[in-house]
Amino acid sequence: MSAPALIPRPTSVRNLERGASLSDGMSIAADPACAAVGDLFAGELEAATGWRVERAGPEASSLSGTVRLRLAPELGAGGSSALLGGASEGYRLRVSDGMIEVAGATAAGVFYGTRTLRQLLPADLLRAAPPKPWGPVPLEGVEVVDAPRFGWRGMMFDVARHFFQKSFLFRLIDLASLHKLNVLHLHLTDDQGWRFEVERYPRLTEVGAWRRESPVGHYREGKKDATPHGGFYTRADLEEVVAYAARRFVTVVPEVDMPGHTQAMIAAYPELGNTGQPLEVLTNWGGSHHVLNMEESTAAFCAGVLEELMGIFPSPFIHIGGDECSTAEWEASERAAELCKERGLAGPQALQGWFTSQMAEAVAAKGRSLVCWEEVLDAGAPPGCVIAPWRAASALSVAKRAAASGHRVVMAPEPWVYFDWSYADDPAEPLAIRPSISVEKVYSLEPVPRGLESEFEEMIVGSQCQLWTEYVATREHAEYMFFPRACAFAEAVWSSGDRSWAEFEPRLAAHLARLDALGVNYRPLAGPTPGQARVWPS
Ligand code: ACM
Repeated sequence: MSAPALIPRPTSVRNLERGASLSDGMSIAADPACAAVGDLFAGELEAATGWRVERAGPEASSLSGTVRLRLAPELGAGGSSALLGGASEGYRLRVSDGMIEVAGATAAGVFYGTRTLRQLLPADLLRAAPPKPWGPVPLEGVEVVDAPRFGWRGMMFDVARHFFQKSFLFRLIDLASLHKLNVLHLHLTDDQGWRFEVERYPRLTEVGAWRRESPVGHYREGKKDATPHGGFYTRADLEEVVAYAARRFVTVVPEVDMPGHTQAMIAAYPELGNTGQPLEVLTNWGGSHHVLNMEESTAAFCAGVLEELMGIFPSPFIHIGGDECSTAEWEASERAAELCKERGLAGPQALQGWFTSQMAEAVAAKGRSLVCWEEVLDAGAPPGCVIAPWRAASALSVAKRAAASGHRVVMAPEPWVYFDWSYADDPAEPLAIRPSISVEKVYSLEPVPRGLESEFEEMIVGSQCQLWTEYVATREHAEYMFFPRACAFAEAVWSSGDRSWAEFEPRLAAHLARLDALGVNYRPLAGPTPGQARVWPS
């Protein structure tokens, strides 16, 4: 038997003598603790095959063709501690002697075992409905033992520059979890749009969710489309996204970017700004130099926003951005100088640190921790704040400094995981902010920076890929930018041991049949199809 083309590659795969088969009327026999995983998997199988799949308790487990799902806490022993997941997400999948068993350290582990099982089945079983009902599906005998290397395996999606309907978030969650990713970081606010309803501050969406027009082509060309754009999620929408994600063991980490990247917020509530001048939601790409003022009342406003946010998102981590905050307005402001004096701060440069500590208190009051982009390390990072290094020039050194000073670190270094960069420096590619990150480059990601002292390695809790959407206005284009780079990324954060592109590439080529069955608009390995190159004007 040839090795199954599993992505991400599991820790170990061993062939066994006799396999099993699945067929109409089969049962899923789940421990009560993983009954919800069993239900989900049963529903997926029924949709894909046209079969009836019985949901049964553990007592049904001796029947041939049954899929037994059970907890086996010993599978999580001995692994490293992790932020969200880690050893507790380990599983063992065994197909032998007519039986299929998935044992997991936790329900999350059992879930990941079922994701592997979906990849062991024919790719056509990932279709939404069968062309005609399937007959029995044989599976070869195999034992897969597996656990993730990192506990934070994320996808960041920018819904601020372009708004995407929640149905696309469900799609991303499905695709992320098939690849064993466990974080969806939603970049919910920016200069160009505010995307979630805040009951106590309705103008954030009434005003902040809409912009008058957007750039056409590369923003350097200065052309605009004269077409309004916007949208926002209601509280119920976001609660639905959180619940959908939770069933698939994905934590949705919300980001409200502050105190820079806030022009949409200031457009809605001018008293939050430094000049008192009315502003509109930004219609250019790139960051605004208009930032929040550092009054107590502004910090209280932001804490109120976070309080509502935390009422929606149960995530233990709340991201407040903190990147690219211009200090120009503070430097020019007498009031900012006064505030510095009152607070004993050395100067306007220290105001962001003051603000961040206020936000850290607001989230700590609800038992949560902050996540911030790397700039916050210099601006003043409160203890317990997770740092996300991203800038090409500094990400690796910032990661080392952050880890050595006691901060947990989620790696997001641009040259490997900024999926808004094109795949290749080639005019056939759709317009992107800049060239280029190939799938092979993504695959070479090593989240632990070279030269980091081993005692700090455990501070690197994982990594995430980011899709900023200045140049990505449709879900088809978003899928193109994510896939198949996200497949390579998933292996870089899940799989332990040496990785080789030569070994991965054929596995990825086989895996694309699964993306075909799911109807993903991925970029073929050889380059875009004529249709893909044409869909997005450049
Ligand atoms: C970022 O790309 N400004 C985090």
